Amino acid sequence: MSLPTTHQAAAIVEKGKPLSLITRKTPTPGPGEVLLKVQAIAFNPVDMAQRDVGLFIAAYPAISGSDVAGTITLTGPGVSSVQIGDRVTAFASAFFAQGNPDYGATQEYVLVAETVLTPLPASWSFVEGCVLPMATFVAWSAWTITGILRVWGAKRVFDYKAEDVVEQIVSAAKEDGLKMTKGMHAAGSSVQQLGVDVMGALREEGAVSKYGIAPIVDKEVKVPEGVETAFLTGPQPEERDEWLKWVFGTWLKENLAKGRVVASPHIKVLDGGLAAANQALDNLKAGVSATKLAVEL
Ligand SMILES: NC(=O)c1ccc[n+]([C@@H]2O[C@H](COP(=O)([O-])OP(=O)(O)OC[C@H]3O[C@@H](n4cnc5c(N)ncnc54)[C@H](OP(=O)(O)O)[C@@H]3O)[C@@H](O)[C@H]2O)c1
Repeated sequence: MSLPTTHQAAAIVEKGKPLSLITRKTPTPGPGEVLLKVQAIAFNPVDMAQRDVGLFIAAYPAISGSDVAGTITLTGPGVSSVQIGDRVTAFASAFFAQGNPDYGATQEYVLVAETVLTPLPASWSFVEGCVLPMATFVAWSAWTITGILRVWGAKRVFDYKAEDVVEQIVSAAKEDGLKMTKGMHAAGSSVQQLGVDVMGALREEGAVSKYGIAPIVDKEVKVPEGVETAFLTGPQPEERDEWLKWVFGTWLKENLAKGRVVASPHIKVLDGGLAAANQALDNLKAGVSATKLAVEL
């Protein structure tokens, strides 16, 4: 595999401006890192917040994006679990890296730590693989914070647009004799009040219910007595590496190999490769429903 000296990236050159295609020097992996040739990228709301409001950006130009799949082209000192040529999915988290351009997903080559790589089985395409890392990270963050992992497989479904949705959920839960001790908020930020109200109405007498919130926690929300909220994220940096290594190097690797993980929801691939990254973020901002947006390089 020939190695480039420069490559293309869709960069945030200034807060609030559309992504720009730039050519940048291809970095060399340091200890415990690999250089990944990016073959598919999926987009998440945090990428949009990095572009539009400068969330988790230390300096410009910055590169956003966390979800990639691709092929390993170089390994840094000490890397032992993967080899050049391996097909992997990777959590190239631009928000942990504060937008450092060597580490954001939205470019042709990206540096990734060995701890956040998962080999892709041959039956998985790069596009299918690229939707896994952020979803896996959030599900395991929910487990770490509240003890919830199985967030799908619903027995009852409610329309969140119904005016009396809180009453509907509470009365259905009471009918089923349910108490609610753990919850996870995975939708947009506008509806956190609804979640904490449900938790408050269904908590066990005398016990504290925990509610993990994936979006930035809305400070205006009135949290009922007996409910604790927490922003969903993994452990603090000093413990994070070991945790990520287990999540991606053991749990996801084993469950992919056993066929227990599927690529979901429906993936919509935008034409145009990196040049379509800005459009993908605009589409996310406009609102997507049960769809994961991705590009192929
Ligand atoms: N903490 C973290 O590490 C972390 C990681 C990833 C994501 N997040 C955050 O988690 C949130 C969701 O991310 P995403 O990637 O899933 O976003 P997304 O792709 O934009 O999807 C949002 C979904 O939320 C649904 N929704 C909106 N309001 C709702 C409500 N009141 N009740 C139930 N569902 C509702 C929408 O449903 P419709 O189909 O009806 O439009 C849509 O399908 C975002 O705020 C994101 O920033 C946090």
